Amino acid sequence: MVPSPSITVLISGRGSNLEALHEKACGYRVGAVVSNTSDAPGINWARGADIAAHVVQRGAFTTSREFNAGLLDAVQRTTPAIVALAGYMAVLPAEFVEAFDGRIVNIHPSLLPKYPGLDTYARALTAGETEHGATVHFVDRGVDTGPVIAQVRVPIYAHDDAESLAERTRRAEHQLYPWVVRHLAAGDITLNGDRVRYGDDVRSEATTMGYRLNPMSGFQ
Ligand code: GRF
Repeated sequence: MVPSPSITVLISGRGSNLEALHEKACGYRVGAVVSNTSDAPGINWARGADIAAHVVQRGAFTTSREFNAGLLDAVQRTTPAIVALAGYMAVLPAEFVEAFDGRIVNIHPSLLPKYPGLDTYARALTAGETEHGATVHFVDRGVDTGPVIAQVRVPIYAHDDAESLAERTRRAEHQLYPWVVRHLAAGDITLNGDRVRYGDDVRSEATTMGYRLNPMSGFQ
């Protein structure tokens, strides 16, 4: 039997998306987790789930350059088909992004291009938005700027605060991210230049799930 493509998940914290990626894995497997902090709860969870877990911290290296090389080396050693960022709270250097071009994705808690960066829930509430959501996108050299793959929307209610909105958005993320990774692993979602290409199944499933795909895309 051909083994499922292995993904490596990069985290810095809680790791709820990591858990969802592992628990809903279909057509891929979470082969390794890499954290840039040793106290990320997700690292302990991964060890408990028998997933190879590595900590690569800036403090263990003299220069940023050495850290960047060490991080790239650690992730390359896990031989991932796909690298999935899930709450990885640092900007990756260009050489890292280029090493995994078309195979590195991130999940961000907003409907990009709205609200890149931090505090997306509070900012959406302050702006009086009536909906929020999450985006899975290919990673490029910018922060939350790469080509959008898929978005899930959630409503904002009058009684919401940042915490309730975060909780609702996170539940939606836990469905969206494994769905996208499954299709990436199957080759049904690909990046061609800066265009995202979708297979027919992806389009029909997205319609059923209510996911929004990149309008600037092409068919495979
Ligand atoms: C998620 O909201 C994700 O969108 C963002 O960071 C958060 C990580 O949460 N990039 P968790 O660690 O997966 O619980």
